[in-house]
Amino acid sequence: MKARVAILISGGGSNMLALLADMAQGDHPATPVLVASNDPLAGGLAKAASLGVPTAAVSHRGLARDAFEASLLEPILAAKPDILLLAGFMRVLTPGFVHRFAGRMLNIHPSLLPKYPGLHTHQRAIDAGDTQAGCTVHLVTPVLDDGPILGQACVPILAGDTAGTLAARVLVQEHRLYPAVLRRFATGDRTPLLA
Ligand code: GRF
Repeated sequence: MKARVAILISGGGSNMLALLADMAQGDHPATPVLVASNDPLAGGLAKAASLGVPTAAVSHRGLARDAFEASLLEPILAAKPDILLLAGFMRVLTPGFVHRFAGRMLNIHPSLLPKYPGLHTHQRAIDAGDTQAGCTVHLVTPVLDDGPILGQACVPILAGDTAGTLAARVLVQEHRLYPAVLRRFATGDRTPLLA
């Protein structure tokens, strides 16, 4: 049986699309069962629907976190996922939500964790004079951007780089790393992949 995968997004969903494209390969050990977003206008929802993947939108606006998460849980639990992937999902989840999916919820973060958890990762790496940047796939825990690392990919920081040029270079690696980690994770392989 293929592992059932639900993906949470907030925006355009480029990582989500890379994951769906890889899962469309016949030999893949997982299959997508849902793409959900906290923003009904997220561009990625229409893209996922056009690929035949069920979608759901639950707006967080005007809702307390618990109420938002209770609503978001409905389509997720209905889809019965084995694995939950955060892919450009920009809401911080409560410990209660995280515990419910402990050990089977992954996130991609655009830095070489444990460096630069949180936002503005590329500008912070440039401002610090780093020579390398990258991205990390990790298991989600109640501490933001902190869980066990499942994969990392590095890129050079070049002279004259802006946060934008660096982000574009890292995003290419994100689209390679996340699908590679999912393939391993869906077969039970938790050893970190250094791509
Ligand atoms: C990516 O860099 C991701 O790591 C971060 O948000 C960016 C946009 O991701 N969390 P996507 O195109 O929405 O997948």
